[in-house]
Amino acid sequence: MSAPGFPQLPPGFRFGAATAAYQIEGAHDEDGRGPSIWDTFSHTPGRTLGGATGDTACDHYHRHREDVALLRGLGVDGYRFSISWPRLLPQGTGAVNRKGLDFYDRLIDDLLAAGIAPAVTLYHWDLPQALETPSNGGSAAAGGWRVRRTAEAFAEYANVAADRYGDRVERWITLNEPFCSAFVGHAEGRHAPGAREGRGALVAAHHLLVAHGLAVRELRAAGAREVGITLNLDRLHAASDRPEDLAALRRAEVLHNEVWTEPLFAGRYPEHEAETWQGLADGPWRRPGDLELIGAPLDFLGVNFYRPVTVTAAPHRQEDPALRTAVDIGVAETDPYGTRQTTMGWPVVPSAFTELLTGLHARYPRLPPVWITENGSAEADSLTPDGRVHDPERIDYLAGHLAAVADAVTAGVDVRGYYVWSLLDNFEWARGYDQRFGLVHVDYHTLTRTPKDSYHWYRGLITAHRARTEETAR
Ligand code: FCB
Repeated sequence: MSAPGFPQLPPGFRFGAATAAYQIEGAHDEDGRGPSIWDTFSHTPGRTLGGATGDTACDHYHRHREDVALLRGLGVDGYRFSISWPRLLPQGTGAVNRKGLDFYDRLIDDLLAAGIAPAVTLYHWDLPQALETPSNGGSAAAGGWRVRRTAEAFAEYANVAADRYGDRVERWITLNEPFCSAFVGHAEGRHAPGAREGRGALVAAHHLLVAHGLAVRELRAAGAREVGITLNLDRLHAASDRPEDLAALRRAEVLHNEVWTEPLFAGRYPEHEAETWQGLADGPWRRPGDLELIGAPLDFLGVNFYRPVTVTAAPHRQEDPALRTAVDIGVAETDPYGTRQTTMGWPVVPSAFTELLTGLHARYPRLPPVWITENGSAEADSLTPDGRVHDPERIDYLAGHLAAVADAVTAGVDVRGYYVWSLLDNFEWARGYDQRFGLVHVDYHTLTRTPKDSYHWYRGLITAHRARTEETAR
């Protein structure tokens, strides 16, 4: 396969790479870091593939200089990483861990010295365990995202981070993919905290949005430069025009997208939520004033996109309606695309990316500028005897999806930049170390980093893009 040409993005469009703390840092109990729900979850037998944990991960905590050098070699404009909340506040609130603060100080300063703009995600799923299970004898059911107190603790943490790093961070992302925190974590139970609590997931979803709103206030008060949120919105299709499939599509739109986009960008809860949640939607956890708080204007929306989803109507899995999990909305996913799949089993359909972006633009007049905060593919990479990693599938994936972004821009969507997921192979949550998303290969025994062919391709794309931008400016 010969490498595809470079998709053309408009002059000034920015390129970056992304990671997240628990997936790369390791040093899980070093320098005062407290445990997070992902430490607990990954250490619970049977929760992750092969019992993998983030104890060491890519050992980025000790190797961040080498990783910043890799970013510099890549030529990116920006780097998106997340701060580990329990590294800054080991108990979630209260005492601040100076060594934790210092670590991100060094990272940010090294990035700036390399000419790379830092974009910080405050919450990439690693809730301090102390907030999940309060030590005052509280049970899990009384903590975490089930309670509003956690949203208030998040605001405190946002304040600590903004106060310390606000002068140097270009872009702040409050939450990463709250869909996963709420529904994969509290209904499906595939992610930490591994709960299957039906209605509890809806409460968690709401408190995550409240946390976002409170953090935006803190960030604004601290003079943060750009503030936004990252969502994994889905481009959904119905399997057929049958009324039951169209109804399934409506319910899936609520679950996957509108739970977030309606309060954030339209100041209301989703129109079809009653039909979707079967009467579970409303509760005292929703307070007057919440919609105003959640819907405060943002500087950007971060969009993570990997694959489209097609849905069909399906019987509910559980008989007791009170136990119907919030994700059990009578919908099943199918894959009618007939395209190649990545090793995650995700179909590769770049045109769906354009449709998602143009659809958002058409639907929400208040949509802020968009940054693609994650996009990439997991492939069966291996080091070859020539010491390289040949990953033409990933290059093809990235080229196709960047061209899809370019199409959305041509169609009028204000997309400002793109962060590839991921800089490094890393801990892929419940999938452990089985899925490699990096532009850089990581040998998990030696922790040696080897740039893959896609790293060199991406560098070439950035160089070509910059030359064109400079030409246009002349
Ligand atoms: C997203 C997560 C990210 C990574 C990619 C593959 O859902 O935000 O951490 O795991 O998927």
